[in-house]
Amino acid sequence: MTVPNDIANHSLAPEGVKRIEWANREMPVLSLIRERFQREKPLQGIRMTACLHVTTETANLAITLRDGGAELRVCASNPLSTQDDVAAALVNEYGIPVFAICGEDNDTYYKHIHQALEHRPQLTMDDGADVVAVLHKDRRDLLPNVAGGTEETTTGVIRLRAMAADGALGYPIVAINEADTKHLFDNRYGTGQSTMDGIIRATNVLIAGKIVVVAGYGWCGRGVASRARGLGAQVIVTEVDPIKALEAVMDGYRVMPMSEAAPIGDIFVTLTGDCNVIDRDDLEGMKDGAIMANSGHFDSEINLKALRALSEGTRRVRESVDEYRMQDGRKLYLLGEGRLVNLAAAEGHPAAVMDMSFANQALGAEWIAQNAKKLEKKVYELPHEVDEEIAALKLKAMGVSIDYLTEEQQRYLTSWQEGT
Ligand SMILES: NC(=O)c1ccc[n+]([C@@H]2O[C@H](COP(=O)([O-])OP(=O)(O)OC[C@H]3O[C@@H](n4cnc5c(N)ncnc54)[C@H](O)[C@@H]3O)[C@@H](O)[C@H]2O)c1
Repeated sequence: MTVPNDIANHSLAPEGVKRIEWANREMPVLSLIRERFQREKPLQGIRMTACLHVTTETANLAITLRDGGAELRVCASNPLSTQDDVAAALVNEYGIPVFAICGEDNDTYYKHIHQALEHRPQLTMDDGADVVAVLHKDRRDLLPNVAGGTEETTTGVIRLRAMAADGALGYPIVAINEADTKHLFDNRYGTGQSTMDGIIRATNVLIAGKIVVVAGYGWCGRGVASRARGLGAQVIVTEVDPIKALEAVMDGYRVMPMSEAAPIGDIFVTLTGDCNVIDRDDLEGMKDGAIMANSGHFDSEINLKALRALSEGTRRVRESVDEYRMQDGRKLYLLGEGRLVNLAAAEGHPAAVMDMSFANQALGAEWIAQNAKKLEKKVYELPHEVDEEIAALKLKAMGVSIDYLTEEQQRYLTSWQEGT
């Protein structure tokens, strides 16, 4: 039987297989879950649509879900993040339907989401809530089939909570991002390393001695700021939350508004989940040669409309670098078209960190499949024991042992009678 698909190039499959296997070496927790799924088949016969970045790590998750019995269809969660060799391997070697082509235009991006929904999913898996959005806007006829879903990222969780608060959410969703073993590691260490990797691969500029402006000091921003500092940059943080701003100050960074950072920064990175964080006035104030990258979920963080309006011409000067010639003669550089730079210009997060994120996704899919009937149309978090189990497995795989509470210590920590 042919596997339904729309991908770039089937002949890339052998390369994709090698890279998927390479990633799997660094994903011991997901491998353990896969072994159990092969035995227990917790997702037997369940139709699933997964809208994720089509990377080597996602391939290992897709194989795990398939081995657990799911009838899976995969589409991309970003037009620029698909690794075409991985898409080919999933279709040709692992028999998993994929609808994703790197560089697809907006219409194709949405056509692929629709194709991934054609088998009437009972579970959805999102990274940025685009499948949920399409189901609720264009394919409401499919909603009654859907028992539940999972959501990977901060921006998706914010959108879904807003829908639930409006009474608009059609089925229960597990917010994978809220697990400690997800955001503490993926958003911080994953985004920290892969964002710098994307900037370096795109530009090959020396980071040491540069002034790097990091917009947003959330989980992702903390990671990028610390990695940029580690490479020798002077880091400036911009924030709107006074507590996060204070934390950045005490972590040793300079903190100021974007309007003050704009004229001094050499490299700008946005990681806020917000829109127009670098706005028209900031673009007007930037110095000649400034480089801008976004690593937040959507390409809304840099005001691209204003950038185009202020420029008299653009040209692609390197694979992921567009030069904008400003009317006043300055040149500004935009990486990866303002989309997630770590995926557009590099390979996304390293597998070792996606091991935990996707362990949460696999266990989240199992949990929602088992519990959907009891749940309301709300956003849920995975039970804390799941987080602890994933962390314990990861430590074990890394060969790290820790202490355990003695009975005396357990008593001491739960009593109010014992003092000095
Ligand atoms: N690149 C990736 O692979 C990747 C990975 C995980 C998350 N994300 C995305 O990155 C974004 C940030 O995620 P997070 O987990 O760090 O979120 P977070 O909520 O922990 O942090 C976002 C921070 O941005 C700040 N902020 C909001 N508007 C701002 C503005 N105008 N100027 C300055 N600061 C502002 C907020 O106060 C907050 O501290 C989201 O869109 C998320 O989906 C990307």
